[in-house]
Amino acid sequence: MELSFDALMGDPGGCLATTMASGRHYLRDSAHAALLQRVGDIIDEVPTCAAPDKRWFQRSYGRCVTDAPEDLLVGNGLFYLTEQRQLFLDCTGGHYQMTWGYEHPELTMLLRDGIERGIVWDNHSNIPSAPVKRLTQKLVELANPGRELSELHDDPDSLNTVLAGVATGTVACAAAMKMMLVNHEAPDAPVFVVLDGNYHGTDLFAQRLRGMWPEYFCNVEIVAVQPNDPDELSATFAEHGERIAGFWAEPVMMNREAIVIEPDYLHLARQLCDETGALMAIDEIQTGFWFPEVIYCVRIGLQPDFIVLGKGMTAGFHPLSALVYRGKLDVLEQYDAISTNGNAALAAYLALGCIALIECEAEQIERMGAAWHEALMALADEFPRTLVEARGIGHMSGLKFRDREECLDFHRRAVERGLWLRAHAYHEGHSTILTKFALPLDEQVVAWTAEALRGLLADR
Ligand SMILES: Cc1ncc(COP(=O)(O)O)c(C=O)c1O
Repeated sequence: MELSFDALMGDPGGCLATTMASGRHYLRDSAHAALLQRVGDIIDEVPTCAAPDKRWFQRSYGRCVTDAPEDLLVGNGLFYLTEQRQLFLDCTGGHYQMTWGYEHPELTMLLRDGIERGIVWDNHSNIPSAPVKRLTQKLVELANPGRELSELHDDPDSLNTVLAGVATGTVACAAAMKMMLVNHEAPDAPVFVVLDGNYHGTDLFAQRLRGMWPEYFCNVEIVAVQPNDPDELSATFAEHGERIAGFWAEPVMMNREAIVIEPDYLHLARQLCDETGALMAIDEIQTGFWFPEVIYCVRIGLQPDFIVLGKGMTAGFHPLSALVYRGKLDVLEQYDAISTNGNAALAAYLALGCIALIECEAEQIERMGAAWHEALMALADEFPRTLVEARGIGHMSGLKFRDREECLDFHRRAVERGLWLRAHAYHEGHSTILTKFALPLDEQVVAWTAEALRGLLADR
């Protein structure tokens, strides 16, 4: 088979390539203001084309949608065009992983530069290349601001160790879960204390932590507590004491309606873990790389035993996640937690670039995050009969609706309007619209989106 785009896409006439090129130019050559004016429109300047369909996909990923799918054609920054050429504003950074939006010019250049310089895509993790080694050092530096690397190296109590050979957040979380089990000494079955509504990945044990597959697990107990209830947390630790192997929390529960876990609550959990010998894992798959400090634990002055990082780390250039943990917990063997036994050198290079951009743009990230959250709070004040409150922090924010059906209807209308955002309304009692703008968010987009949401809220 010929190794050309047209041949690989099954499109010998080159129609898809023409459409993509035209869409790409349209997005790249239009000013923000011009794009914002046309969000939701069909962009007729871009020619139509037939794109491959999804008939071989699994049902839950749209197997049934074979005609006119609204799938992504091309993206640039916060905007993308669908295959039907509808212009969308992406309010969720892909699915919370496109830290710098689509086709960020500097990261795209860095990717080309990395290839030119001979950075391999992947290789055996026993022979890690320079970007991977640099990334582990950078993550240790970020997790321990103000401390000298030489001092950290000899301090097994510090967050001085990085498992870098894992592709997905699920595998990084699983590695921490395994270390908790190995570390657990009490003769009784270990207890995992988790927040109700948690999401720490898609493998069996992670799903067990959120209540699935109970019939297949024995000799382990899962206790789910309500987020931000310090009395319940203290009572749980008092009841299970040394049996608790680990405590897990996602600091902003993007998988449960953007509930922010209060820093005081997390500090209490830290103290209770210290008293009972339990280990604390903070899952930063969502919060990592979305704040000026890069690691959210640093922002709130929290030292857990494990920090799970992934998703936004490579700005969407899959696959690479990481587990940063205390050196003294380094108890797993080489093949106990790996993905393909590689560590994605090129992705690590992109991760370094992503972090450097965050450091450069820290002030803007802080300001825009605050502006967006304030805009949502203003909407919550303006529409008290529809909305309960604005939730989340900074770019990672949501609007909690009073009524689930209204939330779903709002979501449907927002998507029709060209706003790609998420609705958390598939569980009983859940009714929240979620946003997690990519970091190039600016004043213009904040103001325009707030106005668009206002229009949708008013027009019920
Ligand atoms: C908080 C959290 N933990 C873990 C994961 C799992 O990460 P991955 O999908 O990369 O396996 C996710 C994914 O969305 C997540 O949001």
